[in-house]
Amino acid sequence: MIPLSLAQIARVTGGQLCHGDPDAVVSGEVVIDSRRVGPGGLFAAVAGERSDGHDFAAAAVAAGATAVLATRPVTVPSVLVADVPAALAALARSVVDALPAVRIAGITGSSGKTSTKDLAAQLVERLGPTIAPAGSYNNEFGHPLTVLRADAATRYLVLELSARGIGHIAYLCRVAPPRYGVVLNVGHAHAGEFGGLDQVARAKGELAEALPADGVAILNADDPRVLAMAGRTEARIVTFSSAPVSDAPVRAVDIRLDDLGRPGFTLLTPEGAAPVTLRLHGAHNVPNALAAAALARELGMDLDGIADGLGAAVARSRWRMEVHQRPDGVTVINDAYNANPESVRAAIDALAHLAQGGRAFAILGHMAELGGTSRASHEDIGEYAARIGDSGLAGLIAVGEEAAPLLDGARRVRSWTGEALAAPDGAAALELLANRLKPSDVVLVKASRAAHLEGVAAALEGEAGQ
Ligand SMILES: Nc1ncnc2c1ncn2[C@@H]1O[C@H](COP(=O)(O)OP(=O)(O)OP(=O)(O)O)[C@@H](O)[C@H]1O
Ligand SMILES: [Mg+2]
Repeated sequence: MIPLSLAQIARVTGGQLCHGDPDAVVSGEVVIDSRRVGPGGLFAAVAGERSDGHDFAAAAVAAGATAVLATRPVTVPSVLVADVPAALAALARSVVDALPAVRIAGITGSSGKTSTKDLAAQLVERLGPTIAPAGSYNNEFGHPLTVLRADAATRYLVLELSARGIGHIAYLCRVAPPRYGVVLNVGHAHAGEFGGLDQVARAKGELAEALPADGVAILNADDPRVLAMAGRTEARIVTFSSAPVSDAPVRAVDIRLDDLGRPGFTLLTPEGAAPVTLRLHGAHNVPNALAAAALARELGMDLDGIADGLGAAVARSRWRMEVHQRPDGVTVINDAYNANPESVRAAIDALAHLAQGGRAFAILGHMAELGGTSRASHEDIGEYAARIGDSGLAGLIAVGEEAAPLLDGARRVRSWTGEALAAPDGAAALELLANRLKPSDVVLVKASRAAHLEGVAAALEGEAGQ
């Protein structure tokens, strides 16, 4: 964080300073979780569903915060503003404007933003001091909070941009205007709220539109809706592709997966070819790696550095394709972070690959926010699970009422010999699985964030013979 006095913060945010010394300086992190307040920080009080940050204003200052950003009067040094996200945005923008040498990259897409951001950050960090968010700090709160961590030493910002509606990404791009924009894919995540895939494409393409003429739009050539964004930007276009035949400059060929589903491939760029083996699981991480590679290449990293960095990169954010091998021979894939149709298919693909020597089970919760296509999408995924590999999954356990259409879809497959099982909750799913699992079986756990199946995955990982 660039040190800012309370007077400066009040001026930038158009806020009113209360109970504070105008010369007192904020030099620590800006946070919205009072438990994460550090010395010299700024605590932004937000009224959430369960608690109101204003109730923790005094505790935040006692814990070392210089002041509180608040929307109603509190008894400690504070800057009163009308709207906290808008104030954070104004502050973040002032930091960006004060650091013109920082190169800003934005990453968006329906699936894989965090995975790609984590890969890209691990490459770009090799080039110089980099700020990238932890986890999924990608909305009107997390994005400016990340930007605000930049200071005079920062050279790169690698940001995750999310949208739940038209205009959201354009807004985030005004907070921190990116010169490099990566668009991964257009899928069904939040499609219900958007009103269809074309609307999702319209929203994600706002990143391409926001790029300047001397910027670079890094687009997935394998997704026609993403490739079409080339017509919506003044920036130079760089495409990436994992298709066997493509004229994209950044490509993966000879893609193969090891026993644990970790992809290896030959990275092709205009500078040459280099072998890459990822530590991440699942073929869907190949396009993510290519996107990260294309970005690092634009920032000046050479091919060997990119290949080496991709091979060294680890999963930084939890519950995305974590593969855990139990002592009793059962393998658990914890992909419980979130779910949409594309990411569930990708996870079932990985499950089928890992289960080649054993049986495959999936504990699936519902996929949220799909709107009118929700039932059909769940049925299609169920059918996909029943058809995968030679004989489909050995068992499909749907958790909760909303996930039940998964089972209807699986039962549509007449030749399927696996079991379709309904569980009211995670505990029941674990019970159903417990007397079925044998060594060399593989279990996938996945659902939308709201279902919180990570506890189920943790229970499975911890079970048996530890
Ligand atoms: N390119 C991809 N295609 C399909 N699924 C993917 C892809 N990359 C990651 N996934 C899967 O999607 C899920 C979410 O991954 P990740 O957290 O990287 O995405 P995200 O776009 O950041 O999601 P969110 O919108 O929740 O922030 C995980 O289950 C992951 O395995
Ligand atoms: Mg994310």
